[in-house]
Amino acid sequence: MERKTVILGVTGGIAAYKAADLASRLVQKGYTVKVVMTKAATRFVAPLTFQTLTGQPVVVDMFAAPPVWNVAHVAYAEAADVVLIAPATADIIAKLAHGFADDMLTTTVLATQAPVVLAPAMNSNMYLNPAVRENLGLLRARGFYIVEPETGRLACGASGPGRLAPPEAILEAVERVLRGAQDLAGWRVLVTAGPTREPLDPVRFLSNRSTGKMGYALASVAARRGANVTLISGPTSLEAPPSVKRVEVTSAEEMCAQVLAHLPEATALVMAAAVADWRPRAFSPEKIKKEGRETLRLELERTPDILAEVAERKRAEQVVVGFAAESSHLAERAREKLVRKRLDFIVANDITRSDAGFASDSNQVQIIWPDGRVEELPLLTKEEVAAAIWDRVLRVKKENQPPSAN
Ligand SMILES: Cc1cc2nc3c(=O)[nH]c(=O)nc-3n(C[C@H](O)[C@H](O)[C@H](O)COP(=O)(O)O)c2cc1C
Repeated sequence: MERKTVILGVTGGIAAYKAADLASRLVQKGYTVKVVMTKAATRFVAPLTFQTLTGQPVVVDMFAAPPVWNVAHVAYAEAADVVLIAPATADIIAKLAHGFADDMLTTTVLATQAPVVLAPAMNSNMYLNPAVRENLGLLRARGFYIVEPETGRLACGASGPGRLAPPEAILEAVERVLRGAQDLAGWRVLVTAGPTREPLDPVRFLSNRSTGKMGYALASVAARRGANVTLISGPTSLEAPPSVKRVEVTSAEEMCAQVLAHLPEATALVMAAAVADWRPRAFSPEKIKKEGRETLRLELERTPDILAEVAERKRAEQVVVGFAAESSHLAERAREKLVRKRLDFIVANDITRSDAGFASDSNQVQIIWPDGRVEELPLLTKEEVAAAIWDRVLRVKKENQPPSAN
């Protein structure tokens, strides 16, 4: 197979030393790795480190005499199968967002046709600054792939989002981009979406404000990444995404039956539907009349607990992900649900935010893991949240299963 070329851009952050490990891992994986450093990056790590690890000249100065004949100012842009910038400073993010080309790295990115993966790393206040958020938003909208930083202790002593993503996550993103993102090929995935409706009489029902957007984004992203997708959807006004098989259901009971029917062949199940917890105990076949009553007392009963049913039947190699929509004690409640339902991880969203959760095009979620780890993702579009969820499902699947067992 032809060796792929990764242009590794290293910028001037304290995490620059971690780029040496990335360079080494990429070389071990068989890529040709050519490093471009910003001037600031050379204050943190010497070019010689990368030159030695990659066996390739390292370029810093765009105007320097080329060390080998083909390192012209756009040669790397043309050679790239993918450009990875790790760590990406606030500064490079700003420059790329606004089309600067004042050094070798920015020029390479501006001139390349290859996909670009950015792994930001910086102090939390910098990362959360609206200028950085907007710049990252601009880049995302232009198709840059952002590997979100982790939340944790930073070199400056503070704690918060901004720590460079782990090398595994960065390499996975690079490889996914290189594979043309068909990383779910051969998978059968099951996604639930939308609200359920619990009938009270022939014209009335109990339901909730879910629009199905999150579940539909999950289905559409999985299909684009090569999965065979079945979307079990409550009533929504959304179109079924291309090449997704949609099964339409109305009540929680119907949704439960469909999930259990499709579960045996599923590689992974992501339950993004907002399933009603309660339904009227009695269904009135006649429309309930208002005449002769001042009040109407409804008695409700629990609907089937789909995740509990799934937990009982799920095979060890199947990945199951739940969602938790909470208006208070988000992480705590989500974690309790995660353990009780034996989920691989849970995606928790705070439905009290107006820019996240129901009916919104964006979502801010936390990903909660069985070991108690909480990953806080920034405010993202639902498609980006979907991509982040599938990345993690893939990782869990790989960890569950040795690569030799298919
Ligand atoms: C000790 C030190 C650590 C720094 N760490 C970071 C960092 O982690 N992230 C960041 O965005 N900027 C950081 N900076 C600031 C950048 O080095 C500065 O913005 C520089 O202009 C970036 O240049 P570049 O983007 O061309 O590499 C740091 C500066 C210093 C002196």
